[in-house]
Amino acid sequence: SAAEKSGYASFMLKEIAEQPKAVADTLLGRIDSSGLLTLDEVRIPVSVLREVDKVVIVACGTAYHSGMIAKYAIEHWTRIPCEMELASEFRYRDPILDARTLVVAVSQSGETMDTLMAVRHAREQGAHVLAICNTNGSTIPRESDAVLYTHAGPEVAVASTKAFLTQLVACYLVALYLGQVRGTKWGDEIGDVVRELSEISTQVEDVLDTMEPVRELARGLAGEAGMNTVLFLGRHVGYPVALEGALKLKELAYMHAEGFAAGELKHGPIALIEKGLPVVVVVPSPRGRSVLHGKIVSNIQEIRARGARTLVIAERGDTAVVPYADHLVEIPATPTLLQPLVATVPLQVFACELATARGNEVDQPRNLAKSVTVE
Ligand code: G6P
Repeated sequence: SAAEKSGYASFMLKEIAEQPKAVADTLLGRIDSSGLLTLDEVRIPVSVLREVDKVVIVACGTAYHSGMIAKYAIEHWTRIPCEMELASEFRYRDPILDARTLVVAVSQSGETMDTLMAVRHAREQGAHVLAICNTNGSTIPRESDAVLYTHAGPEVAVASTKAFLTQLVACYLVALYLGQVRGTKWGDEIGDVVRELSEISTQVEDVLDTMEPVRELARGLAGEAGMNTVLFLGRHVGYPVALEGALKLKELAYMHAEGFAAGELKHGPIALIEKGLPVVVVVPSPRGRSVLHGKIVSNIQEIRARGARTLVIAERGDTAVVPYADHLVEIPATPTLLQPLVATVPLQVFACELATARGNEVDQPRNLAKSVTVE
């Protein structure tokens, strides 16, 4: 009903707006005053976590993208090898699992059958399973060894938004916690990250306050005849963000949208570039991994020279991208690994506005279900 949407035209708009709170709530009570993590809910003994020699993340859809990002964080902060796998592929390839494997199952609903089957298989093989879930008491947490709940609140719109951001936060907490209990690389960088995580909520708020140009652009594109493809490029943690931007556009606007790793451009996708094609580029911070920044700037030049219209999402003050951005969306500066928390938001707004302008029902896209309980 209209009342449940608290004045918003759709649940999706409401849920996008709720993201700062969802992020803050997911951190609440989990970091103590000295910057250490207290994840008592994760009822896997520290002795087990110290022995883990491999992490495998399983998930579907948007949750899969959060896991892809988590892989970068887990390997960087803990130096434990981490694999990411689509839950629907996992058990059918006879994965190598044992008591030293930590399987992390990410699911908003906790009811996705593909993910549940992956959890059951992992436990049968003796692995320890940690669920990251938004729904109290749902099946996946009940069948896992432990659960870390995201505190996004109920998500009603089929396309996931606030749950995604909180899944990222929860994945980062797990990564940092593993680092903490194992004493790996628990240096200045991790201390900084914990501090900077607590600023993300305000930064997401900032992004939400500056979205009018993105909405305007989306409305413009929605009205263009024959505009049926949008490409998304990103690199490092920006690559899964590109995939998520493309998924949102497919789900909501029913458009052909594809995400690519920017480094792959020259190995195929650049052949798709033609005059007027909109390409969204997620640019890594010019600080952090500056080599990657330079490479992405070259990619933007290359596609623009071939006629692409570029929508560039870059850190505020990144002057290098300005000459090649037909549209520039500035996001606040964050540590490299946290950038997806702010960079995803404009892509959600873009897809939601474009779909709405095309007359689509954004809360209930055709052919999709909020929770898919069949394999
Ligand atoms: C469905 C939804 C997606 C969601 C996926 C995984 O396909 O349409 O938005 O990402 O399921 O759902 P889960 O509840 O496991 O996160």
